Amino acid sequence: MPLSSVKILLIEDNLAEARLLQEVLKGATLKQFSLLHVKRLREALDQLNQDEFDIILLDLSLPDSQGLSSLTPLINRAPSIPIVVLTNTNDDELAIEAVRQGAQDYLVKRQLNREVLIRSVSYAIERKQALEELREVNETLEIQVQEQTAELMKAKKLNQLKSEFVSMLSHDFRNPLNTILLSTGLLQENTYKLTKEKKLTHFQLIRSAINNMTQLLDEVLLIGKADSGSLKFQPTPLALESFCHQLVEELQLTASKKHQLVFTSFGELDEALWDEGLLRHIFGNLLDNAIKYSPEGGIVRFQLIVQEKTVSFRIQDQGIGIPPEYQKQIFDPFTRASNVNTITGTGLGLAMVNRCVELHGGQISVESEVGVGTTFIVTLPLCKP
Ligand SMILES: Nc1ncnc2c1ncn2[C@@H]1O[C@H](COP(=O)(O)OP(=O)(O)OP(=O)(O)O)[C@@H](O)[C@H]1O
Ligand SMILES: [Mg+2]
Repeated sequence: MPLSSVKILLIEDNLAEARLLQEVLKGATLKQFSLLHVKRLREALDQLNQDEFDIILLDLSLPDSQGLSSLTPLINRAPSIPIVVLTNTNDDELAIEAVRQGAQDYLVKRQLNREVLIRSVSYAIERKQALEELREVNETLEIQVQEQTAELMKAKKLNQLKSEFVSMLSHDFRNPLNTILLSTGLLQENTYKLTKEKKLTHFQLIRSAINNMTQLLDEVLLIGKADSGSLKFQPTPLALESFCHQLVEELQLTASKKHQLVFTSFGELDEALWDEGLLRHIFGNLLDNAIKYSPEGGIVRFQLIVQEKTVSFRIQDQGIGIPPEYQKQIFDPFTRASNVNTITGTGLGLAMVNRCVELHGGQISVESEVGVGTTFIVTLPLCKP
């Protein structure tokens, strides 16, 4: 507020009273006051739309609004402008109620003199400003509290997820460790009793248990890397079609004869950039699942569909399918559907796939019917060199 000039909006229907106020203010020496006088609430609201004021002086009996009902529309229209109410001698209670409802002060008209008026106006402006600042601080604080609460909740959820993760992990490590313990114990105690074949079987069991643990560790480390942000999207020029073709051929070698892997591509693909490592994780895992969850065998189709700005990949199998209630959850770590029976797995593959697809800026979805088959659809944006 400039010290030199205070803009007052006077709402007063009595011309004589208005003139008197104007005279009182004219004689002020320390501050200058400019006063705009209106007779009705309606006019006041219009003025507040057009102009800025430092304070409102409000008479409580107006032709278009009586008593305290003038306050609310004024406060709503100009919440940061202080209001001083002008009352008659016998209106004390009304005046106090006005202050309770948001006016800064009240003045009894008959007792008005320059000193009282100027003091009240200055006080009201200062007080309103202090209140506004307080309100702003309060608002900022509230936002900060909200943000911190959200952060805390996030941290809490993460913490909970981490402890779930650790307990699942310990569980998944215990099985292969037990196998190793059991087999080594048998080998140690029965060195001379066991046939060569039996010994070989135990060594194989140990080997596969160690392989399981190594794979589990690799997956966990990779997820950790993705979560900590150290797994990065590193696009390089790649012949996408032959990459997919090769991946399918590699997997066909390890798959059983019951499975037939078929790769087809649709559309012309211009040169583009891809992160080979991420793609290998994504499609390696999806194809591995397609084979693994089709214990009866069948065709596993891998299709590449080139669109204008994206490329879609469909991995389709004729396997056991995923019950509808699991179709969203399977992307969470350690979640496995109820129909996996004896098919082994840790439930980390799709969690990793999901993170890799995200890193590649794409999306993944699944369509599945129990007993019929499953199709995973990955859509990745085309990244031009
Ligand atoms: N093609 C599929 N057909 C049927 N169910 C599937 C298929 N792919 C995934 N699932 C279901 O989703 C679950 C999670 O898959 P995910 O690949 O994450 O873990 P997993 O295969 O159990 O273990 P791993 O960590 O070894 O990959 C599976 O346990 C299975 O229930
Ligand atoms: Mg898997």
